[in-house]
This record gives sequence, C-alpha cells and structure tokens, in this order.
Amino acid sequence: MKIESFLKDVGGASRVTSARREKFRKGSPLPEPEDPIRALSDALHPDKMRFIVTDVRDVSPTSKTWRLRSTDGHIPIFQSGQYVCFHLQIGDSVLNRPYSISSAPFETKCDNPFIEVTIRRNRPYFVPDYFFDHVKVGEVLWGSMPFGTFYYEPLRDSKNVVAIAGGSGITPFLSMAREIAAGWLDVNLTIIYGSVHSSDIVCGRELDEIDRKCDKVKVVHVMSDDPDWQGEKGFVNREIIEKYSGEDTTYMFCGPYAMYTFVEKIMKEMGVPAGRFRKDAIAQPDVSLIPGYPSDKKDEVYTIKVMRGIHEDIIQAAASEPVAVAVERAGIALDTHCRGGECGMCRSQLLEGEIFVSPIGDGRRRMDKELGWFHACSAYPMSDLVIKIPIL
Ligand code: FES
Repeated sequence: MKIESFLKDVGGASRVTSARREKFRKGSPLPEPEDPIRALSDALHPDKMRFIVTDVRDVSPTSKTWRLRSTDGHIPIFQSGQYVCFHLQIGDSVLNRPYSISSAPFETKCDNPFIEVTIRRNRPYFVPDYFFDHVKVGEVLWGSMPFGTFYYEPLRDSKNVVAIAGGSGITPFLSMAREIAAGWLDVNLTIIYGSVHSSDIVCGRELDEIDRKCDKVKVVHVMSDDPDWQGEKGFVNREIIEKYSGEDTTYMFCGPYAMYTFVEKIMKEMGVPAGRFRKDAIAQPDVSLIPGYPSDKKDEVYTIKVMRGIHEDIIQAAASEPVAVAVERAGIALDTHCRGGECGMCRSQLLEGEIFVSPIGDGRRRMDKELGWFHACSAYPMSDLVIKIPIL
C-alpha cells in the first residue's frame, strides 16, 4: 500500500515536471511587461526612500528627535523596535546607518504619515554629529525601511513585557509605549530605564506622560549617579528587575554592550528561558568593555588590503574600530544595515590576518566561521589584513 502511494507520488511529480517544462517551452523569453504583484510589493516596500525632515526638536540636553516624511507620501508598515537605514554621503565616505524608529507604527497610517528617529550626540563614530550639525528641517535624506527582528511578537512573547533600557536604547520602547497608549498594541509594558543622571534621560517628559495617562505602561527610572534623585538609584540590578516583574514575563533589552553583559548575567541567574529574553545591543564606543577584547591592542593601527572584484585598495585601520568603519572612512562603499553583526549584509571574507569578533554581535553561521567569512561591522583588526568585500 505504502509502496503504491509512493510510486503515485513519484509519477505525479514527474508529470508536473513535464507540464512545467512544456509551459517554459511555450513561454516568451521577454520579461513580463506588467507584473501587478511586483508593482504592489515595490510600492509597499521600496528599495530606497526619499525622506524630508519636517521637524527637529530637543528631547534631552544631548538628544534630538528628527521627524521625517516620505516625499511620495507613503511610509511602509513597520513594527515597534524595527529600524530605518539611512544612506548618507559624508565627505568622501558613503555610509549606511541604522536608527531605531522612535515613533509608533500607527503614525504611518494617518493622513500625513511620518517616522521619527531619536539620536544622542557623541555616540560612536561620526554620524550622530553629522545629524546634529547638518540635518535641519527641509533636508532630504535617502533611506530604506523597515529592518530588524527586535519587536514584540504575540505568537512568541508573553503579554507582560519588562523592557530594560540604557541611554538611547529607550527608542524602541518609546515606540512601543506610544503604540500601546494609542490602543494599537495590547501589551502590559514596564520600562526599566537606566541613566547616569536625570538630565541624561532621553524623551523623559513624553515617557512620564504616557506612564501617567496609560495604565498599561509603567516607566521606572534608575539613576546611577544623581544624589538628588528620589526614585530607584544605582545600576539596574536583579533586585530592581524582580521588583517590577510579574508572572509569565518576556524581557527585552536595548542598551550598550557593557549593560547587556550585566543584564544577560542577571537573566541567567533568574532562570529566564532564552526565548523569553530578547536583546538589541548598541555598539560599544569603548572597545575594551567588549567581553574578550584584547585591550593591549586597543591603540594599534594596521593596514588592510581591501579587494572588490578587480579593485584593490590599501587602507589604514585602528584596532579600536570595526573593519566596516575603516572601509567607509576610506570612501569605499560597503553595504550595511544592522551594524550589529546580525543581518549579514556586510559579510566579507578574511584572506589573511587576524580579527577579533565581538561575541555580542556574532551572527555568523558555523560554516562561515570555518571558511573565514566575517561580518565587517562587528570585527576588529588584530593584525594587517587582506579581505574581500562584496562589489556594490
Ligand atoms: S551590517 Fe548587519 S551584519 Fe554587518
């Protein structure tokens, strides 16, 4: 009986194959002049979008929020926690930079749809300062969106979410809080937000207002160095996390690497299952704080031979900066999206030399590791290198 049905399956498959072959034989070799599905998908998810800045406002002494509308009036659907990737030409460098969207998804569904990004000055590398100094109202920026998998998913995550944020890592949770407060997302969200001083809190006024008005959102500020602060003090620790956690909780973290290492340890101590702890770590400006980074190499400068097709360039690279930054500084285009080692857009090949790969942002597959592939955004040169990057 089983053999008979197996033979039927095989026979069926071969009939389908010959029918397909016949269709291919009769088909035109020319591309379909109109493909409505493709046209719809391109319209909903354009490869590149042209944004115009319509507002810039201060949200802390060191942070600003930029509001952007698309010049064609359409903004693709996204989820709180996803990011927009800007394509910037700064001097001779061509840079792609991801920024988590701090506005809420429902704000793309209104008559005048927009997104907002909130950026803090003095974050690593040179793009934040470019935004502060050059991106004014009326400026046009190119970008793509949405990207990233750091968002609430009801099929996977519990309805009680404790979000742990540090510094500008608050932005995905601000987006989520706005969405909940507007009634578009049914989640109980507690945000534990660590800052050094109350003057460092990003978007504090808006967060506190949502906390006051919406009983599904609670914001707990924790100050590590503010003697006058009346609320929680010190670093975000296990005691504070447990104090504000309920039953059946999903934990989400967004903040600097150093804080991530600490929070990950607490999650393990608390016995939180891996699937109930989601993270989005922000690149660490001080590389010596990345676990395992050989600090004695921090001040070294190496030479990298960069190969793309028939082109070869020799560039200088500091051991304290990711290979991707050195490549971009030299004016060589490299496609990047997440800048955190996860998406694989900057996947390159190491032909000679040694690199240090940040363990927090090592999204490589096992075979890639064995065959010498690496993600240039999360790898640091530890010697002179010869690398091959994708041709754009
Ligand atoms: S840009 Fe995503 S892995 Fe490098």
